[in-house]
Amino acid sequence: MTEVQKFVRLKSLGRVLVKRINGGMEPPEEPPAVNFAFVSSVLLPDGTPDVHFRVACGGQKLRDIMLDSNIELYGPYSRPLLNCGGGGTCGTCIVEVVEGKELLNPRTDKEKEKLKRNPKNWRLACQTTVGKPDSRGLVVIQQLPEWKGHEWNYNKKPPSESEP
Ligand code: FES
Repeated sequence: MTEVQKFVRLKSLGRVLVKRINGGMEPPEEPPAVNFAFVSSVLLPDGTPDVHFRVACGGQKLRDIMLDSNIELYGPYSRPLLNCGGGGTCGTCIVEVVEGKELLNPRTDKEKEKLKRNPKNWRLACQTTVGKPDSRGLVVIQQLPEWKGHEWNYNKKPPSESEP
């Protein structure tokens, strides 16, 4: 089971447990939020992907979400004068959207220009916002896709209940 699958499973198990504690009543509705799974460009020493989970609300910029929660974004361009600070002109804040692109705004004109030779699912984090205030779901982001030192497969299928 991947880290992302474990996260999704833990969230659903949490709701089941709260329902049991509440005597069968559904837990109160959580406010809308989007779950993010950020996958590092390097593997852990045991060879598995290094995944960090964060939660964001609609309207938040992906660049802000990553920088505010210490998720590596710029790699070798992290020093102030080596990137444009979110202006959409330097093209150094590239991420790959592995899952959940429908929860994000469409590519902006700046992205279309800067990323025209890159795969369609690559985005500039400074131009990417979480879609709407009521958005819910999971977005999986590959950090630093240009420097990715490994291949990994995202298994969209949720883990079955019998799986350990
Ligand atoms: S920070 Fe320069 S393009 Fe995003």
